[in-house]
Amino acid sequence: MKIISSIREIQDLALTLKRDVRRIAFVPTMGFLHEGHASLLREGRKRGDVLVLSIFVNPIQFGQHEDLDRYPRNLDGDCAIARECDVDIVFTPTAAEMYPGGFQTSIRVSNLALPLCGASRPGHFDGVATVVTKLFNIVQPDVALFGKKDFQQLAIIRRMTLDLSLPVEIVGMPIVREADGLAMSSRNAYLSPDERRSALCLSRAIRLARERYAAGEHTAETLLTAAQELIEAEPAALIDYLELRDVDTLETVSTVSDSTLMALAVKIGATRLIDNTLLGDEP
Ligand code: PAJ
Repeated sequence: MKIISSIREIQDLALTLKRDVRRIAFVPTMGFLHEGHASLLREGRKRGDVLVLSIFVNPIQFGQHEDLDRYPRNLDGDCAIARECDVDIVFTPTAAEMYPGGFQTSIRVSNLALPLCGASRPGHFDGVATVVTKLFNIVQPDVALFGKKDFQQLAIIRRMTLDLSLPVEIVGMPIVREADGLAMSSRNAYLSPDERRSALCLSRAIRLARERYAAGEHTAETLLTAAQELIEAEPAALIDYLELRDVDTLETVSTVSDSTLMALAVKIGATRLIDNTLLGDEP
C-alpha cells in the first residue's frame, strides 16, 4: 500500500495507470475510518483494478463555529483498516497542498444544496462539491463510492457529475449501522456514554416512521409529529431538522410514498448527528 501526499505524484501515477487501461475505484473520506467507510472500500475493491482512498479533513466544508479543529484523526488506525480492505493507494494531502495561496474557485450546486443540511450549514456543500471535483481531477477515478448516510451529499455529487460531464460513475452504498441502530459516523466518537444512549433517538424515530408508513399512514404531518415526539422525549436531543422530502428533487411532500426520504439532523449535547431513510426501502 502506497501512502502519497503530493498531488503531482498521485496525479502522474493515476494518468500512468489509466494509460495501462487500469480501472481506478475511489473512496474519498475525512478519515477516522469505521465500518461504514470499510463497506465503501470493499465495494470499490470489486469495482476497480486499483483502489484509492483519500483522507483529507476538508477545511472549506466546515463553518466557522464547527468542529474542524477537533475533528477526530487517527492515520495509523485508518491505514490498518485500509490494508484490511486491500487499498492500493492512500492519498493524504495537506490543506496547503489542496488550497494554495490565492485559492478562489469553487463549485456550487444550486437547488439540491438549499434545504436540510444546506440550510443549517451555509456553504458546506460548496466546500464538498469543490473538494470532490478537485479529488476527481487528482485521482482520475473511473468509479467513486459514496454512502447514503450523507444522502444529500450523494444527490449533489450525482447532479454535479452529470451537470459537469465528469467521466466518473457514482455508486451510492447503504448506511452501515451499529447493532443497536445508530448510524456509524466518525462524529460518534464525540459522544459520552449517556449521549451515546440518547443518540439512539435518531434511528428510533426513523424506525417509528417506517412502521407507521408500512401500517398505512401516508400523511407527512402525522409521521413527522410521531417522530418529533419520540425525539423530544429525549432531554439531551435538540432537533435541527426533521423532514420528509421527495428523494429525487428534495422538495417537501405532504403525502408520502415509497420514494419519500425522511431526513433528520439532531444535536445530542454539542454533537450534531444525521440520519435518513427511504420509506420504501428494505429495512
Ligand atoms: P466522511 O464523513 O469521512 O465520509 C466518507 C464517505 O463515507 C461518505 O461517502 C459517507 O457517506 C460514507 N459514510 C460515512 N458513514 C457511513 C455509514 N455509516 N454507512 C455508509 N457510508 C458511510 O463525507 C465526507 O467524509 C466528506 O464530505 C467528503 C465526501 C470526503 C468530502 O470531503
